[in-house]
Amino acid sequence: MSDTTTTTTRPARGGCRVCGGAVEQFLDLGPQPLSDAFRVPGEPAPEFFFHMDVGACADCSMVQLLEEVPREQMFHQEYPYRSSLSSTMREHFAGNAQHFLDTELTGPDPFMVEIGSNDGVLLETVAEAGVRHLGVDPSGDAAEVARGRGIDVQVSFFEEEVGRGIRERHGPADVIFSANTYSHIAYVPSILRGVNELLTERGIFVFEDPYLGDILEKTSYDQISDEHFYLFSATSVSEMARLHGLELVDVERIAVHGGEVRYTVARAGARTPTPAVAALIAEERECGMHELATLRRFADRVRTSAAELRALLTELREQGKTVVAYGATAKSATVTNFAGIGPDLVDHVVDTTPEKQGRLTPGVHIPVRSPEGFGTDTADYALLFAWNFADEIMAKEQEFHDAGGRWILWTPHVHVV
Ligand code: SAH
Ligand code: TMP
Ligand code: ZN
Repeated sequence: MSDTTTTTTRPARGGCRVCGGAVEQFLDLGPQPLSDAFRVPGEPAPEFFFHMDVGACADCSMVQLLEEVPREQMFHQEYPYRSSLSSTMREHFAGNAQHFLDTELTGPDPFMVEIGSNDGVLLETVAEAGVRHLGVDPSGDAAEVARGRGIDVQVSFFEEEVGRGIRERHGPADVIFSANTYSHIAYVPSILRGVNELLTERGIFVFEDPYLGDILEKTSYDQISDEHFYLFSATSVSEMARLHGLELVDVERIAVHGGEVRYTVARAGARTPTPAVAALIAEERECGMHELATLRRFADRVRTSAAELRALLTELREQGKTVVAYGATAKSATVTNFAGIGPDLVDHVVDTTPEKQGRLTPGVHIPVRSPEGFGTDTADYALLFAWNFADEIMAKEQEFHDAGGRWILWTPHVHVV
């Protein structure tokens, strides 16, 4: 931690943000910075830290953080994440958009809204098809990129009043879509009231977010961060929908971002749930996914994983090896800050995002550089923080491996390839 920091006081355990029930803490990930707050070197402003405790609700099962970071501190004009930088995600979202165009946006004058449209990676396909659409995103710079692609964007946080306002101006939406955003938003009741205001009678709210099942299976604790307030499961999402007059009508496990589920929610009774919903809920019950004993075993594995990664990096340093990291992902902040991995163990991290280059990673302050020259420079090992893009990155950086460089992966367990 730097000497200029502000830390919040660890809050008393509040009630569940979905249902008000009692939340039991099972994992303490310590003081954490904002995962997307890349620092300018020498910046005098104090760095913000909060305490990352994770708990599960005894009533609705929702796994959630105990402390909420004010949304304006995370998402603002200069929020650096850009969805379109990954070819994997470009293909994924183009396919998604085409699916909606073929199945749901087929009426006389269809309308689609996206919550968290970022740089327009998905809505581009919808706009090109000439279909009415609106992206909603508070990240002004990303929204500017989307507008440059011919996409309509409203720069705001989606919430109840915004949903109502959109309906008044544009009419109801056939599809509301949201990827890697809904689980970032603590104020669920307001979002779902907004969805209720905005959807047509048979409309659907579809969202994709990291799946608790994958996180437990892969010990991928980097999916927990200030921005990932909830870790969704079919059980908890079904209950959350029910509390708001909605119904979970479909689930699909998808491989992106290390394992997610695409949830489809409709007005209660408007659509017949597919058998996949009951099947996934039953699977979650059978493996005891939401039981505290299961979650505490996961917490044990997280502590072991962090200790093993730190031990490997320390050993490599003692052997005089050079270690860099690949992908200054927001989620790697959880790993570096929890495991205590700073520039003493990892020389620098390479990343394609211009907004991150020349800056320092949150909390531990590892310098971020462009990947240019990565394959041919002198690093012996590269710690893959962007493990969710392992195939894409390893294929692109074959030269590094051919020249004797080795990848360090830390999930599902610490290993070298
Ligand atoms: N959907 C994209 C972007 C995910 S990043 C993808 O999957 O790649 C999360 C985005 O959600 C950011 O651009 C952030 O500004 C936006 N966001 C956060 N809270 C929001 C809210 N309440 N309403 C709309 N967008 C929000
Ligand atoms: P994400 O896991 O949150 O999507 O972040 C991925 C980060 O990795 C993002 O900062 C961009 C970076 N990245 C690269 O540097 N090179 C790549 O080839 C890919 C796919 C991502
Ligand atoms: Zn609850």
